[in-house]
Amino acid sequence: MIAGSGQLKPHALRESVRFFARPEVGARSPSEVGPYSKLQDVLIFSGFRYHGIIEFMGRIIMYGSMAGVELGCTLITVLLAWIAGNKASNLVYAGSGRRLRQSIRSTFIIAGTASVFAVAVLAGIFIIAATKPSVYWEDRVLINAPLIGVPLLAVWCYSVPALRRVMRILPPESGAPDAGIRGKLSAPGVVVPFQAAAVGAATALYFVLAAPFPLQPLDAASPLFVCVLAIVGMWMLHDRRWQRVSRPDAPFAGRTRRRTLGKLGALALGFAVMLAAVASGASASRLPDRLDMASGPMDFGGGTVLSHDTSRAVSVAMMTGPREEKPDRRITLTAERKTVRLASGKEIEAWTFNGEVPGPELRLKQGELVEVTLANKDIEAGVTLHWHGLDVPNAEDGVAGATQDAVMPGQTHTYRFRAEQTGTFWYHSHQDSQEAVSKGLFGALIVEPAQSGPTDPSVRDIVVLSHLWSGSSGFAIGTDSGVRRETVKPGTPVRLRLLNTDNWVRQRYRLAGTPFRVAAIDGTELNEPQELRNAELQLTTGGRYDVTFTMPDRPVFLSVGGSTEVGLLMSPDGTGDVPTLSPPASVFDPLHYGKPASTPFHADSAFDRSFRMILDNNLGFYDGQFDFVYTINGRLFPDTPMFMVKEGELIKVTIVNRSAVDHPMHLHGHHALVLSRNGEPSDGSPWWTDTLDVLPGDTYEIAFRADNPGIWMDHCHNLTHAAAGMSMHLMYEGVSTPYTIGTATVNQPE
Ligand code: C2O
Ligand code: CU
Repeated sequence: MIAGSGQLKPHALRESVRFFARPEVGARSPSEVGPYSKLQDVLIFSGFRYHGIIEFMGRIIMYGSMAGVELGCTLITVLLAWIAGNKASNLVYAGSGRRLRQSIRSTFIIAGTASVFAVAVLAGIFIIAATKPSVYWEDRVLINAPLIGVPLLAVWCYSVPALRRVMRILPPESGAPDAGIRGKLSAPGVVVPFQAAAVGAATALYFVLAAPFPLQPLDAASPLFVCVLAIVGMWMLHDRRWQRVSRPDAPFAGRTRRRTLGKLGALALGFAVMLAAVASGASASRLPDRLDMASGPMDFGGGTVLSHDTSRAVSVAMMTGPREEKPDRRITLTAERKTVRLASGKEIEAWTFNGEVPGPELRLKQGELVEVTLANKDIEAGVTLHWHGLDVPNAEDGVAGATQDAVMPGQTHTYRFRAEQTGTFWYHSHQDSQEAVSKGLFGALIVEPAQSGPTDPSVRDIVVLSHLWSGSSGFAIGTDSGVRRETVKPGTPVRLRLLNTDNWVRQRYRLAGTPFRVAAIDGTELNEPQELRNAELQLTTGGRYDVTFTMPDRPVFLSVGGSTEVGLLMSPDGTGDVPTLSPPASVFDPLHYGKPASTPFHADSAFDRSFRMILDNNLGFYDGQFDFVYTINGRLFPDTPMFMVKEGELIKVTIVNRSAVDHPMHLHGHHALVLSRNGEPSDGSPWWTDTLDVLPGDTYEIAFRADNPGIWMDHCHNLTHAAAGMSMHLMYEGVSTPYTIGTATVNQPE
């Protein structure tokens, strides 16, 4: 992060609020096939008759909310079990039979309440196990469930009955309990299960909250070891006390000072261990000063091992677009700071291209050779230009530290590429992208088909770039923070190009007043899209939907964000009222939309490599900061493995979202074909994507041809996630980079 650039590190609190308050999309089919077995299959196989109920529960209870409930209930279990453990351990000091009876009762009540929450956690684990592939639950079933369940069993099967027996032999009033009763109350077998329930739940909480998945053997073993050690230690302490207090000549109670001191000591020890763990975690997470993106841990996706001899590799700097030919278009984009006024009158301190936010709309023709000169006037953090969704040669991809150095104030950089794809794309800075994009360094990039002459001039082509401006400025279409009006003659074919440039927000759109079609996703036209009525469109950050319809003779309103406050009102004469919105009938889902068409490969193709990308979240450190972090295969950048490929290979990636929030995964330089979601094949129009919204609990299989050599970022387009390490890259064999990232360089891609 560049000093003084007002960094916007994700905030643990804000993240945790979102963790629980995440908007949900309609229920999804829990039917899963593929490489992971389901408990449900086992149950059905073994004649379990209620799988229909489980399937139904899995359908209505979303994985993301379940993960949130799991966290909350585990936390409450720890707290209540800890209180119950304390009470159970203090029973022996009760001054009278009456008080003892009361204390035993309240211990039961608290332990009972803790058990309700614990059972909720176990039930949640059961539902996940019954409805999801094992990658979602193997740790939960093998580690968390026993940690919570076993001590609980001991409490209810042994400790509670033992205490009830004591209650039966208690004289109703009487003085202090005698040594016999004290012995029964303080037996380790009676007290320790209560405390073990707290320690077990606390260890489970660690696994829920802080352990990255997939678990490395040491990651899993060390907390379990600490847990067992703590329980054994408690057992030994209780055993000593038991022998002491159950001697007939033992003095009653007393020793309270020593008890308090002992507890304080244990607390201090626990605290010291935690501090040490925090300090070592923080320092271990510090990023190196200088890092070469072409080196790092490698994943070969089950394919042949690829040599990675960078000394004989081709530099990405050589992988440019046409450098000699005369360009068809020359464009200059100058990055500069400027105060920009939104339509609402609010002013924002923006980072602009050519003084505008969003930057100028670039409209290219397919096949055109464009030359874009990027100049940085005064953006101290530096700037680059990344052509999001356009599969340009690697040297033109604009990733600071991977394909170029960040362009610092006073410097320029020239990009040259041929626009080969048609459709809706966008450009944005890929230096400090989290801050740059949120402040305005982005714009629309449209590539029109090449036909000679202008493309059908009768089509009204409107770009709707939605953005969340900083502070209280809220959503806007560009800078239109209210309702924008357009005059459109009835009968006119209209194409709305929806682009979501927000950070974090899965944007919702509604089109009122006309049926419509989703004509393209992420710049690729769909095959025979059907007409939709009153469907809500949900567009992930970085994603694009093209919506088409024929203008009726009444107003049509595009709502952005689900309300009537921000949107686009199209009407025959530019006037008219914003219609009221009825609740959406459905949420658009591309999985079965449109008609199949032939694709260069499909689910049954022979893949050269199959990678698995497991997305998860936990509390942890990134670059010395404590945060909610989002991991890929249990790691944060630069420890995330590079997916190694060779030019020409066919690649399959299975993306699993175990976390509680959605992650729009964006692969640079390639378009991937969606093969399936949760085992359900994509059987509508071929669905090509560059930014795939992977919701909690969803498993996608996608495939692409490795046909564009270089180093290509593959990251979450919730840019706060990417900036906190949710980033990796696709690495071609035999490629190297002369650029580096880190604090010793100017480059900070995210
Ligand atoms: Cu739109 Cu790597 O980003
Ligand atoms: Cu993410």
